[in-house]
Amino acid sequence: MKTLIYNIKELIGILPKEVQRLEGEQMGGVSSIKNAYLIIKDGIIDAFGKMEELAPNGENISLSDEFEKKIDAEGRLVLPTFCDSHTHICYSGTRENEFVDKINGLSYEEIAKRGGGILNSADLLNKTSEDSLYEQTMERVKEIAAKGTGAVEIKSGYALTLEGELKMLRVIKRVKETAPLFVKSTFLGAHAVGRAFVGKQDEYVEHICKEMIPAVAAEHLADYIDVFCDKGFFTQKQTEEILSEGAKYGLVPKIHANELDVSGGVQVGVKYKALSVDHLERTTDAEIESLKGTITMATMLPGASFFLGMPYGRAKDYIKAGLGVALASDYNPGSSPSGDMRFVMALGCIKMKLTPEEAFNACTINAAYAMGVSNLYGSITEGKRGNVIITEKIPSLAHIAYYHHTPFISQIIR
Ligand code: NIG
Ligand code: FE
Repeated sequence: MKTLIYNIKELIGILPKEVQRLEGEQMGGVSSIKNAYLIIKDGIIDAFGKMEELAPNGENISLSDEFEKKIDAEGRLVLPTFCDSHTHICYSGTRENEFVDKINGLSYEEIAKRGGGILNSADLLNKTSEDSLYEQTMERVKEIAAKGTGAVEIKSGYALTLEGELKMLRVIKRVKETAPLFVKSTFLGAHAVGRAFVGKQDEYVEHICKEMIPAVAAEHLADYIDVFCDKGFFTQKQTEEILSEGAKYGLVPKIHANELDVSGGVQVGVKYKALSVDHLERTTDAEIESLKGTITMATMLPGASFFLGMPYGRAKDYIKAGLGVALASDYNPGSSPSGDMRFVMALGCIKMKLTPEEAFNACTINAAYAMGVSNLYGSITEGKRGNVIITEKIPSLAHIAYYHHTPFISQIIR
């Protein structure tokens, strides 16, 4: 099957094959071709270039019979679909009661301390059937797919029991097999201390290491392992125990760190060669220093800052220090009930002062890197998956972030 998209006003986000992530000043550049075409063959980007190269003698391309499908983009932009490298979209029900509690003055930590928050979601999820959980998750997957996400990472961590965590990961596996987008799964047993272990945190960590990780690995249910290394959740030492156990099973870390406090989680992530360290609402220069020269992608979640009224990550300082930054949605019922990557891009610009180019790169190639798929997604590159957004008739890339709530997608090609 060969698809041609022609008369593209601007084909945006072109990168050479060897570029897996962008760092420092590179983040400010987005290459594009004006008045372009794009050919997708059997789902893979086959060729692209200027219209005049496709029809050097002014041939009427709409009459060509070389392509099964021809899309006249009529002056619209084409860009790669977003990658969302950090989500918790496998959950049951919602938590608007806590939303109201927060409006009335309780903090995220206070709600968690009262046994609400993640534990509330866990109580409900443990009572939810696998089929219902699958349906609820798929509904969210379809929602984000329609909003332009082409690859998503989904975490477990809303059961906190052995059986429940396996149930979540089996659901995520089923989603992988049936979703209209690419999925990576992460085991997050250390999202909070399970009800049965409250007050016995070290025993819960041991349960994760000795029971959960081997069971998850035996069924090949996770690509990555995550720990919520933060104040009131898991300590640096406990995080290290979990990551070193995970490493025995080949589970690469992606860490929650520095959301509630400067937790030391970034340094632990770097030590264990994490693919990404995520949140980073609170960081000192030491965290920035610790990431230099590493394989770990700093990932910020402005949707959580927005929803919980927390500081935004210091993305600009990371970039100034020569580092790469990824942005992700953190879509979850407690701290970021939105998986709209366009809104994430807009927050990156409006609140974190990223240029539209930096925010775009953070939501595409760098987010792809942060979930281990930058060989397949995140840019317009020959050989990568032909997953692209054809926009409405908008003037520029900047307009996507600027006009942040007017629908901008006319069609998504997968
Ligand atoms: O990434 N910080 C920990 N986990 C989620 C929130 C989960 C929840 O409140 O349900 C987050 O923000
Ligand atoms: Fe999260």
